[in-house]
Amino acid sequence: MFVLSELKINKNQLHFMEIDQIFKNNQDWIKDKLKVDSDYFNNLSKGQSPDILYVGCSDSRVTAEELMGVSPGDAFVHRNIANMVPNTDLSAMSVIDYAVTHLKVNNIVVCGHYYCGGVKAAMDSQDLGILNPWLRNIRDVYRIHHDELDAIADEEEKYKRLVELNVQEQCVNVIKTVEVQNAFKERDLQVHGWVFDIHTGKLIDLNIDFDNILKNQNIS
Ligand code: CO
Repeated sequence: MFVLSELKINKNQLHFMEIDQIFKNNQDWIKDKLKVDSDYFNNLSKGQSPDILYVGCSDSRVTAEELMGVSPGDAFVHRNIANMVPNTDLSAMSVIDYAVTHLKVNNIVVCGHYYCGGVKAAMDSQDLGILNPWLRNIRDVYRIHHDELDAIADEEEKYKRLVELNVQEQCVNVIKTVEVQNAFKERDLQVHGWVFDIHTGKLIDLNIDFDNILKNQNIS
């Protein structure tokens, strides 16, 4: 009993130390920014005009700004489990509306990543409670592409391909929103499907041929 309670105290102390460190890091970051540009935060507070909407996974290993090498103000970001854009998700739909209609971004990226836990969970038939309806959307992606996926014998290759096809289907969901359809009529808005390869750190452009996909799925 004594050992267990001691362990608990140590764990809590460690936890507070980590949170404390974040505020120290923040002070260092402020100093670094002001050293280069004394007006940095004044300018940041004036407003935002990012050119890119990034939709990515919540996975702690897959950051948005860091892997793209962009700064605060450069990207409007939406992250959730398995970088999904469900058509009835108020959060994702609001983000797209604000980014496209108000911020007038010219690029929308859906970025998946290999070894995505959300995609993996969707490949199993485990009961995961509240995650079930969320993962259902990925299971639908599998169902749409079951001919291609079932033909892949290697489980890892199948998993990686489902990550790519999930990105493709979420891009289609982005394209079919009314905001993006209207924006296509007035400006050169581009939709991109990417995958981050955790093994190498590489960002891979899937170069998805959306015209062809929409034509083949009979939903253009
Ligand atoms: Co993920």
